[in-house]
Amino acid sequence: MKSEQHPITVKSTFEKDVFEGLTAYPKYLLSKYIYDKRGDALFQEIMALPEYYLTRAEYDLLDTNKRDIAALFEDPDGFDLIELGAGDGKKTKLVLSELLYRKADFTYIPIDISLNALDKLTLCLKQELPELEVQPGQGMYFDVLKRLSSYNRRKKVIMVLGSNIGNLLHPKAIEFLKKIKDSLSRNDLLFMGFDQKKEPSVILNAYNDPTGVTAAFNKNLLVRINRELDANFDIDNFKHWESYDPETGTAKSFLVAQTKMEVTIKKLDLTITFDPWETIHTEISQKYDDRTVSWLANEADLRISRIFQSPDGGYKNYVFTMK
Ligand code: TRP
Repeated sequence: MKSEQHPITVKSTFEKDVFEGLTAYPKYLLSKYIYDKRGDALFQEIMALPEYYLTRAEYDLLDTNKRDIAALFEDPDGFDLIELGAGDGKKTKLVLSELLYRKADFTYIPIDISLNALDKLTLCLKQELPELEVQPGQGMYFDVLKRLSSYNRRKKVIMVLGSNIGNLLHPKAIEFLKKIKDSLSRNDLLFMGFDQKKEPSVILNAYNDPTGVTAAFNKNLLVRINRELDANFDIDNFKHWESYDPETGTAKSFLVAQTKMEVTIKKLDLTITFDPWETIHTEISQKYDDRTVSWLANEADLRISRIFQSPDGGYKNYVFTMK
């Protein structure tokens, strides 16, 4: 008689991360998993919401300052413009067209983990800015950066838009900046967006729109786990909740269980329980001021060499160089 054996199942990173987050106390899920096809579409809707000021603020900042920004990037020997997490490129195009208008000698290198997103962006740029030299790099940010700095040919400008750093708590943000610093040479620049502390209700409303798009976006994590891991989350029984602490500048997104619940995730062979009002933490969106950014820079051995700000000062892009 054959002995009974369990099939060997290799767990994906998604499965491992979900298991870890939902068996922890307090429970959490990683926000990067919100962004499947439906999540991407919902995020496009968020960016169009009147309450979600971030994208428009950075767009206006780039539009108003594009000449100064282009002049800062330009180099007589040419340069590489490397963007980490390019998205749909709507904001970047402002800078790209300004550089092309000035006949700057440069290559645009968008880096993303998603080959699909890169293909879409490259195709769209080929059509809209046919003179632009694009050289997409697929992979994890730092693997690609390492590859790039190993053939250090000319000036590098590394660009990170969208206050993406705000999804990291300070210690992780410092690590992130340090890793970027490690790939910078003397003449290179880092150009990065940081959403600023402001009237607390403006921040809360940006993550808590009355139409419920943000709630649907946040809950997409559970929708995805239901579908991909064969789970039975009762989505309507969770409430999207946002908090903002004006002292630390940290906004946090949660999914809150409204009643006691039991959820089975078949693919993980896991049953979890929720007490009434138990939370799943899903995202942090850190807000900054100059003092905090200069502290972060200092911890990462970087120097702020210039600050651009949106018309109302609610959003800033900092230019960093090596110390
Ligand atoms: N993380 C992004 C931000 O901080 C996107 C986002 C907007 C988000 N609303 C959200 C993430 C709600 C999780 C939950 O702006």
